[in-house]
Amino acid sequence: MALRLGDTAPNFKAQTSEGPIDFYEYLGNGWGILFSHPADYTPVCTTELGKTALLSDEFAKRNTKVLAVSVDPLDKHEGWIKDINETQKTTVNFPLIADSDRNVATLYDMIHPNASATATVRSLFIIGPDKLVKLIITYPASTGRNFVEVLRVLDSLQLTANYSVATPADWKEGEDVIVVPAVSTEDAIKKFPKGVKVVKPYLRYTPQPNK
Ligand code: BEZ
Repeated sequence: MALRLGDTAPNFKAQTSEGPIDFYEYLGNGWGILFSHPADYTPVCTTELGKTALLSDEFAKRNTKVLAVSVDPLDKHEGWIKDINETQKTTVNFPLIADSDRNVATLYDMIHPNASATATVRSLFIIGPDKLVKLIITYPASTGRNFVEVLRVLDSLQLTANYSVATPADWKEGEDVIVVPAVSTEDAIKKFPKGVKVVKPYLRYTPQPNK
């Protein structure tokens, strides 16, 4: 059955461009992003892996490890990574899984047969320190991901985990956030010393707590 939000992210062992890994050991106690690509030597994926490498400081700031999946074998990954480094002006510094037996693709339901019988779709999972699935986004092969959005969701998820706040539509770093319904207004006033603006009893804003 397909994974859903709140499910436990399945653990796996895999061969990667940086050696064998155990997924949970690789993630440690931090956050993780697992994302798939249709195949090696494809144009959109080349830009995505390059962008992920270029954003490595942003992921590190958020205590987040990234891990890419492609169903091609290791020797193919090695040549492709050289191309990515050359064309995207970066150094791929995270593992790329060689998922030739489609073990990871199957565990994470990354093959959608009506899109392609063999290639993975562009799936992305954010996994929390509790190893639960926090976000699933699926793009078609022809659309590169919006990594600004990926970082934005990561920030939102981390705010919820750390401060019991949610983020409104189109929220950006530094803007006011929303007090989650589980926190009463009385408690919110104590919890958020920067102030709570009550628009409706169920719609309460507070300045971003970690700013
Ligand atoms: C790609 O992965 O780059 C790609 C795959 C299918 C159609 C277009 C681009």
